[in-house]
Amino acid sequence: MNGLIDIMQLRTDEIDALIKTANDIIGNPQKYAQACAGKKLATLFFEPSTRTRLSFEAAMYELGGHVLGFSEAASSSSSKGESVADTVTVVGYYADIIAMRHPKEGAPLVAAMKSSVPVINAGDGGHNHPTQTLTDLLTIQREKGRFDHLTVGLCGDLKFGRTVHSLISALSRYEKVKFVLISPEELVIPDYVRQEVLQKNNIDFVETRDLEAAMPELDILYMTRVQRERFFNEADYIRLKDSYVLTVPKLQSAKSDLCVMHPLPRVNEIAVDVDDDPRACYFKQAQNGKYIRMALILKLLGIEVDAQ
Ligand code: CP
Repeated sequence: MNGLIDIMQLRTDEIDALIKTANDIIGNPQKYAQACAGKKLATLFFEPSTRTRLSFEAAMYELGGHVLGFSEAASSSSSKGESVADTVTVVGYYADIIAMRHPKEGAPLVAAMKSSVPVINAGDGGHNHPTQTLTDLLTIQREKGRFDHLTVGLCGDLKFGRTVHSLISALSRYEKVKFVLISPEELVIPDYVRQEVLQKNNIDFVETRDLEAAMPELDILYMTRVQRERFFNEADYIRLKDSYVLTVPKLQSAKSDLCVMHPLPRVNEIAVDVDDDPRACYFKQAQNGKYIRMALILKLLGIEVDAQ
């Protein structure tokens, strides 16, 4: 496969290497400032994005490269009926690497199979978001110093939240990770995640509706937005959207070194006064996204910068 479509394509040693590079970039940005000189990244975003698209673009600029692309399907020829396969064939003539977000699950996979240049899945429908998972793993490594022996609470829309599916898959490979899956009944994790990832690999997990009861045992609390754009029925979204709101009082029973994460954007899931709590990691998480995407671009383009 040409590119990164699913986080499980990466072995744990490859993830470790990406994290090592990202940490080196954070410490020594100048060393990487011309690493991608003359290279071009195409960002093909058929769905809205702030963090993923702009952090990819900032990543390429900070590597000395260039960026082209579009930020909505309406401004591309897909609005005239062009297929994803034809789009990436053509963009491969103009760019060295592609980051693609698409509402249809599997569209970036189709693109990668057709493309002459690496394709990175920047989020496909409710399915996967591997570079968010790399961002989350860099954040966990920097905040907790390990991926094993962690109790990880995932809270909110576990059905449509693609970042949750990728993160569960990635963390399931580490020793003694327990998942506490906190969601309304209607938004539990999909069967394929429960059966093919958790049960198949004998991973310790519980499913609950009660965030406050779960709080004291958590090392990480990963809040998620209820994904309005994936609902067929607006009334269901309105009924479920505020199922969980993290507030300062709810954090009273939490560990002092809890790491509160959220892929963002948030709507109402985390009260803004939680931002001042030292356990709030979600803005650092968004910042980390640029550095891990720099490391990924380097890897996929086969560019090595001095031994670290
Ligand atoms: N976390 C994330 O994917 O954010 P955007 O939708 O803003 O890219």
